[in-house]
Parts: sequence; structure tokens; C-alpha cells
Amino acid sequence: MSLYQVWLTLTVIVQPCLAIQLDVTSTESLKAASGTVANGMMKYYSGNETGNWPGNLPSPYYWWHAGAMFMTMVDYWYTTGDTTYNTNTIQAMDWQAGEQGIFMPANQTTTEGNDDQVFWAFAAMTAAEFNFPSLEADYPSWLAMAQGVFNEQARRWDSTTCGGGLRWQIFPTNNGYNYKNSVANGGFFQLASRLARYTGNQTYVDWGTKSWEWFEGSVLFDNATYAINDGTDDTANCVLADHTQWSYNYGIYLGGLAYLYNHTKDDRWLPPLQGILNRTLTEFFPASMGNKIAVEVAFWPYLQASAQGVAGQCDGGSDGVTCGMEWNSTKWDGTYGIGQQLSALSVIQANLIQTSRLGAPFTSDTGGTSQGDPNAGSGSDNPGLGSEYTRTIKSADKGGAGFLTLLAVGSTLGGAYFLVT
Ligand SMILES: *[C@@H]1O[C@H](CO)[C@@H](O)[C@H](O)[C@H]1NC(C)=O
Ligand SMILES: *[C@@H]1O[C@H](CO)[C@@H](O)[C@H](O)[C@H]1NC(C)=O
Ligand SMILES: *[C@@H]1O[C@H](CO)[C@@H](O)[C@H](O)[C@H]1NC(C)=O
Ligand SMILES: *[C@@H]1O[C@H](CO)[C@@H](O)[C@H](O)[C@H]1NC(C)=O
Ligand SMILES: *[C@@H]1O[C@H](CO)[C@@H](O)[C@H](O)[C@H]1NC(C)=O
Ligand SMILES: *[C@@H]1O[C@H](CO)[C@@H](O)[C@H](O)[C@H]1NC(C)=O
Ligand SMILES: *[C@@H]1O[C@H](CO)[C@@H](O)[C@H](O)[C@H]1NC(C)=O
Repeated sequence: MSLYQVWLTLTVIVQPCLAIQLDVTSTESLKAASGTVANGMMKYYSGNETGNWPGNLPSPYYWWHAGAMFMTMVDYWYTTGDTTYNTNTIQAMDWQAGEQGIFMPANQTTTEGNDDQVFWAFAAMTAAEFNFPSLEADYPSWLAMAQGVFNEQARRWDSTTCGGGLRWQIFPTNNGYNYKNSVANGGFFQLASRLARYTGNQTYVDWGTKSWEWFEGSVLFDNATYAINDGTDDTANCVLADHTQWSYNYGIYLGGLAYLYNHTKDDRWLPPLQGILNRTLTEFFPASMGNKIAVEVAFWPYLQASAQGVAGQCDGGSDGVTCGMEWNSTKWDGTYGIGQQLSALSVIQANLIQTSRLGAPFTSDTGGTSQGDPNAGSGSDNPGLGSEYTRTIKSADKGGAGFLTLLAVGSTLGGAYFLVT
């Protein structure tokens, strides 16, 4: 036990029991709880201080954690109407979009993977879908940023091995370049689906379909059980899969299917949508919530139960409102961090979607105002960089993703509520 843990333990013992009181049926209560958790999360952020870099998080957090964090803050503004963090959020996304507006900032390109880039693109896409306040007029719009990332990733589609798909990493010098995985391909799939819905441009539907068909026929997906595996090695012809189950892979595909179904109204998307949703609920939600699959797509009770569970976990730390991860327990598990705060926030605020002042995500036909640029991001990747620091595929690395367990599921189930009727 470290000194810090001792200190934490002591503060927990001597702290009055603050905790977060949450009534999931009350909009005011949900907003207040979201505000408390958001405040706890933003305490980790110092990128707006003089001398720091907007949009960066301190070690040990990765760049994509920041992308997920600011995406959650766009959702936060959308669900609660609280503008407190908008300036920081706009500045962070603006800065990290980099000179080309495609989330390939010079500082990150040595280590950046397709999944890292797409997490930031999701933040930009979410901003477009909710008319989040935008940047200066001469800067690429939220929509153009998302389109730029899409164009880059479409160019990286690699048919030289395994019949297609995206690699995890962008640069051949990085470990993980040989790994074709669900998060990179699911990210591209979801981005294509959302762009299809927002712009109505058929090119995005075609790419979404192509990406899905490759995935469906690969070892990444079990077409009978709807299991989504983590990835596969293309130097061994993609015949074996790493079967690790991460909920964010499920959440990313669920979201993509919901958007694509909503836009195309094509029933072909319903069996995988329902199948992956079923599998998500049985795989990642404890049996104690198990009798809630009464109706198809009846995931509202799961969001309520999860929000109630997570609020019970947010009674830790010296402030008495720090969130842990053991959502099935009302006793703080002793863990803390950005992952815990942002997963908790995302699930609590997802319960506000039903009563949101803005309703469903906009499209360019239903009030979305972000002006796109279908040719954004047409420059090439910068292959000169790459040896300064290489990541390895370690469980510790991917462990960060584990914190997103209910983030992706929470936000996409919330979003799917609107899109699948
Ligand atoms: C940075 O943002 C926080 C809110 O998250 C704010 O309290 C603080 O004053 C900001 N600092 C600067 C230097 O703007
Ligand atoms: C970003 O790059 C600049 C210039 O090379 C460097 O001074 C700075 O430390 C880098 N910041 C981060 C967070 O990597
Ligand atoms: C997966 O299952 C669906 C529905 O049963 C079927 O239409 C599709 O062809 C299958 N895909 C593959 C690659 O086997
Ligand atoms: C999903 O679960 C529901 C309820 O158990 C069931 O009716 C439905 O057939 C399942 N769908 C698929 C595609 O497995
Ligand atoms: C919560 O769920 C985890 C994983 O299933 C389990 O290890 C843990 O004991 C559970 N905690 C409680 C308090 O039920
Ligand atoms: C549709 O998207 C594609 C790919 O980005 C682009 O080349 C094309 O110009 C777009 N079409 C329209 C009408 O915007
Ligand atoms: C798509 O989403 C909109 C907005 O919530 C909804 O009105 C519409 O019915 C959905 N379409 C389908 C096919 O479910």
C-alpha cells in the first residue's frame, strides 16, 4: 500500500459521508449529479493553464483519453445545458485538430493509431450533431474535421492483406501495425455511418457497408453468437483472433449500426443491431439487472440501473464524491481517475437524453449547421516520424480502454434510443 493509498483510506474513514444522491427519475437530480462528476473529472485537466498544451492530459493518460473526455464534455453540455466547460472544450478540440484539422497534431503522430484519431473525430462529429458552439470562422468546422478523418482513414483501407480492413496503427514503424482490430475498424464504420446520416451523402453509406461486410466475414466477428473479438494478426493471414471482450468494441459497432439503420431504414441492419445489443447486455451487465430484457431494445432500465449503481460508487476520495469502478457496490472501491469519472458521467448524463432540450442528433436537413468539406484531409499521412516512441500491445495499454466499459455502451445506448424506434 502506498502512502497515497494510506492517505486516501484515512480520508475516507474520517470523511463525512457525502456521496452523490441520485434520483434517476428526476431531471434536476440527474443534472446535479452530472455536474458533480464532471467537476471531478475536469480537475484532472490543466491544459488551459499558461505553458500547458490545450487538449493534453497529464501522464499516465493517453491522448485518446482526452478525446473521449472532451467528447463526453460535448455530451455534457448537450444533456445538461451547462456551458461552464465549453471554452476549454472548444479550445482543446481546436488545438488537437492540428494544422490540417484532422487530429494528426505533430506532437502525437509518432504514436497515433487509427483508434486514437477516431476518438477525437467522434468528439467533433458529436459537436456537429448537437450544434455545439463552433470555432473561429476560418478554422475547419466540426463536420469538416470528421470528414477529414474519414477521408484519411478511407485511404488507409488496406486490401493487401486479409481482404481489406484498417490496421490498428497508422505508421509501419509502430508496434501494432500488423494488428487489424475491432476498435479501428468499428471506429471507421461508426464515423462513416454518422457522416452518412448527417450529410445524406451515399459515399459514406457505401463505405459503411463495405467496412461492415469485411468485419462480418472476418474472425473479428462471430456471426452466430454476435461476439466481437479484439483483433487479428495480418502476418498470419487473420485466421486467429484475440478473443478478449471489450465493451467499447460492442458500443462502437452498436452506435454505427444504429446510425446506419436510422439513415437507410434498411432492415438488413436490424439483426446485427439486435444481436449485438443482446450480447452486450448479457456479456457486460450483471445478472442482477437481468430481468430487464422484456422488450426488444428496452435498454432504458439498464441505463437507469447503471446510473443508480455508479452514483453509489461516487462516494470516495478526499472530496467524498470521487467515483470508482465497482458499480454493483455502494462502497467506493478505492480506485479513481479520469476513466472512472468519465464513465460515470457518461452513464448518468445518458439518462437525461429522454428529456433533452435538443432532442435527437441533428442532420444537415434537420437543423445541423456545421458546414462540411467533403475533401477535407486530403493531404497524406506524414510518414517521416515514428521512432521516437513506440507503443507495444500490452494489456496495460489496452486496460485504459477497459475503463470505457460503459462509456461507449452508455452513450451509444442513449443515442440509439433516438435512432431506433
Ligand atoms: C481552466 O479551466 C478551469 C475550469 O475547468 C477554470 O477553473 C480555470 O480558471 C481555467 N484556467 C485558466 C488559466 O483559464
Ligand atoms: C509538443 O511539442 C513541443 C514542440 O516540440 C514540445 O515542446 C512540447 O513539450 C510537446 N508537448 C507535449 C505535451 O508533448
Ligand atoms: C451473417 O449472418 C447473416 C444473417 O444470418 C447473413 O445474412 C450473412 O450472410 C452472414 N454473413 C457471413 C459473412 O456469414
Ligand atoms: C434479442 O433478444 C430478444 C429478447 O430476448 C429476442 O427476442 C431477439 O430474438 C434477440 N435478437 C437476436 C437477433 O438475437
Ligand atoms: C461486482 O461484480 C464483480 C464482477 O462480477 C464482482 O467481482 C464483485 O464481487 C461484485 N461486487 C459486489 C459487491 O457484488
Ligand atoms: C460525397 O462524399 C465524397 C467522399 O468524401 C466526396 O468525394 C463527394 O464529393 C461528396 N458528394 C457531395 C455531393 O458532397
Ligand atoms: C431515426 O431517428 C429519428 C430521430 O429520432 C426518428 O424520428 C426516426 O423514426 C428514426 N428512423 C428509424 C428508421 O427508426
